[in-house]
Amino acid sequence: MPEICSTPAAPVDLGVTLGRLRLPNPIMVASGTFGYASEMAGFVPLERIGGIVPKTITLAPRIGNRPWRTVETAAGLLNSIGLDNDGIDRFLADKLPFLRDCGAPVVVSIAGGTVAEFVQLAARLAAEPGIAALELNISCPNVSHGVDLATDPEMCRSVVAGVRQATATPVLAKLTPNVNDIAGIAQAAADGGADAVTLINTCQGMAVDWRRRRPLLGNVIGGLSGPAIKPIALRCVHQVRQAVDLPIIGVGGIMTIDDCMEFFVTGATAVQIGTASFAEPVVVGRLLDALPVALAELGVGSLSEAVGSLELPGPKVGPVNASA
Ligand SMILES: Cc1cc2nc3c(=O)[nH]c(=O)nc-3n(C[C@H](O)[C@H](O)[C@H](O)COP(=O)(O)O)c2cc1C
Repeated sequence: MPEICSTPAAPVDLGVTLGRLRLPNPIMVASGTFGYASEMAGFVPLERIGGIVPKTITLAPRIGNRPWRTVETAAGLLNSIGLDNDGIDRFLADKLPFLRDCGAPVVVSIAGGTVAEFVQLAARLAAEPGIAALELNISCPNVSHGVDLATDPEMCRSVVAGVRQATATPVLAKLTPNVNDIAGIAQAAADGGADAVTLINTCQGMAVDWRRRRPLLGNVIGGLSGPAIKPIALRCVHQVRQAVDLPIIGVGGIMTIDDCMEFFVTGATAVQIGTASFAEPVVVGRLLDALPVALAELGVGSLSEAVGSLELPGPKVGPVNASA
């Protein structure tokens, strides 16, 4: 009887490097959609996750925006939470101890209204063990003027450079898609010394109850996330990949392993899962199980062979001889 070969496929090394940040795998969870991780521990073995980005923190506590704060839309979710958080002191006392012991790399998301506030937050966190990186939320559309920092290249560069001076921790700059030239902003983040850019935060949007003649969100305008924004996120990853020499974390509308692979092939070294966790809290485990299978289907032995392997059409060829 011929022996059936039962040797399991060699395990694929899924580790990725983003500047000075090394992650065990490329599937992270996005800020604001995974709480502070303890809330999600019953759904996903946290130690399997490539990187956890908890809800953005600010220096002082913030109560956030008035309700409604979320509205479901066709293929998406609108939110205007307004960076509701308890401030850095409570984060350090109540949230960070659990996060640093959870077994996954922790990327702390910070936001300030000025460069000085970002630098102050980074300096406080620099003294804390167990933080793999900082993600600078310079793109929150819900805070007055919060979006300004990542819509202006020089502001973006100076926030990143200021934080780089204040800490030895790797720095990710999370950018807004609500700009004309995303590659120009990403280049500014690179010039400031970012280890990677996270693309994208939510797209500005609005929902209206016409019968009551009212906007549905208390803040009137909010940020759109979910499948509706995936094409925009992919376009941003593509444009930055083509123009800027900086690792990219892709985020926006990822629900399936096909979505993840689209981001990798387009040029993202890692991805973050956001709104999908609300619809399916176990989604990250499912994607992690599917990743080696998808890489095998692509015919590659490592993730790096897939990243940025998109084949673009050549230059447009016009008629050589119009009269022929
Ligand atoms: C309810 C909600 C809250 C969010 N809060 C934050 C936040 O605090 N900081 C941040 O950088 N991004 C925040 N985001 C944006 C997500 O991290 C992510 O960039 C965006 O939702 C796009 O990804 P997705 O379509 O997979 O959700 C939030 C998104 C949602 C839906």
